[in-house]
Amino acid sequence: MDYRRQYIKDLLTGSPGQAAEAYGWVKTRRDSKGVSFVQLSDGSCFKDLQVVIDAGSISDDLLKQATTGACVKFSGELVESPGEGQAVELKACSLEIYGAADPASYPMQKKGASFEFLREIGHLRVRGNTFGAVMRVRNRASYAVHNFFQSRGFNWIHTPIITASDCEGAGAMFAVSTLLEAEHGPDGAQFRLKDNNPENDFFGKPAFLTVSGQLNVETQAMGLTNCYTFGPTFRAENSHTPRHLAEFWMIEPEMAFCDIHGDMNLAEEFVHEVIRDILDNCGPDLEFFDQRIEKGLIQTLEHVASSEFERMTYTEAVKLLEASGENFEFPTAWGSDLQSEHERWLTESKVGRPVILTDYPKDIKAFYMYGNEDNKTVRAMDVLVPRIGELIGGSQREDRLDVLEAKIDEMGLPKEAYWWYLDLRKYGSAPHSGFGLGFERLIMYLTGMKNIRDVIPFSRSAGSADF
Ligand code: 4AD
Ligand code: MG
Repeated sequence: MDYRRQYIKDLLTGSPGQAAEAYGWVKTRRDSKGVSFVQLSDGSCFKDLQVVIDAGSISDDLLKQATTGACVKFSGELVESPGEGQAVELKACSLEIYGAADPASYPMQKKGASFEFLREIGHLRVRGNTFGAVMRVRNRASYAVHNFFQSRGFNWIHTPIITASDCEGAGAMFAVSTLLEAEHGPDGAQFRLKDNNPENDFFGKPAFLTVSGQLNVETQAMGLTNCYTFGPTFRAENSHTPRHLAEFWMIEPEMAFCDIHGDMNLAEEFVHEVIRDILDNCGPDLEFFDQRIEKGLIQTLEHVASSEFERMTYTEAVKLLEASGENFEFPTAWGSDLQSEHERWLTESKVGRPVILTDYPKDIKAFYMYGNEDNKTVRAMDVLVPRIGELIGGSQREDRLDVLEAKIDEMGLPKEAYWWYLDLRKYGSAPHSGFGLGFERLIMYLTGMKNIRDVIPFSRSAGSADF
């Protein structure tokens, strides 16, 4: 067996008369008089291969083992398919069973199983239509992300997962420590704190899983000009929403010699190009999402890929929200953060496409954002999209040493911990900007999937870290 063989994707575009071997997992088997039909999938494309077995060409005892979920190889010849939906099918003359799947207990055979149930069998759900399609789109979107940046001369930076600095200053970090020891007793596991002095810990000081690679990628942009990170980030927020995970992937470009306008241009171009790539390369998967998950998805994506994003300030947005006459659960007032309901009203009801909001009040944004002259707002920019709300959060960075130091003091952050970040402003400071895009939110947007737990192979959120 070699990896250089034909996938089902290739067999489906093969020619009648061609000898073929098809490896995969049985989706269904239907036996009728004189002939059996098997739908076979190897995940290489949305469509299954139809395998036709004439009575007597494969022994009944063997064929009986090819039940839903079994892993098999069928060999035979491609023939023209009389049925609708496929040009060719495989007329099989031999079958090899690699792994049977007991029909009495195989959990993936229920048609129309709920996404909640499928989360409980996260190790098997990729064999179904929906999760196969999600993972193929996720894969292609990762590729499109790298393509976008690489074709524009950005350097991919591998920023650390373990860090001692809190980038967002929001305190929602997971500690990384070897001072906590798990003891397994008859009543299960228990934690014991060996020592509570961080100086005796593995790194000699408190360390955490990163919430963002931004501060590190900024250092690289101050020497390489255009950089980006694409990796996992972690937040210990106890938010049980369909848009938050405790472990999610983030894409963070950072550009020297770029202001907030250039930052917005990059964000818009980036979203346009990734959507275009998925439309061009994931057609059958998108058709499935359009029919079964989110009606009109393809049309919306086509529209968004070619339309300019609306740009307005936070202050303008608050005025619109106040004048909207809508009965929001959370009232809007200048100075408070926008809630998901406000973001959705702006993008869905008011504008009808993505909106970039800029110049937020400084008190609701992170310490590193460039302060405007009004001394009330910062050069922040959030990209909001229909259905999802915030897809991107970014800003022009504060590059003035004295202003940044004063801000860190004002917010009560530990200045010593940011000494290297401040050095960037001390030695050869440059105007620079960047943003962070939540990769899972992008996948939700591209697929129409409603829950962020269903666009990542194994989700981690408060109270749940299975598999
Ligand atoms: O707006 P955020 O917090 O921005 C930053 O972390 C900046 N340091 C980024 C930068 O400028 N380099 O997060 C960026 C994006 C959000 O817009 C959202 O899409 C996503 O990350 N995000 C989450 N996605 C899933 N689960 C969570 N808990 C998320 N928190 C943020
Ligand atoms: Mg944000």
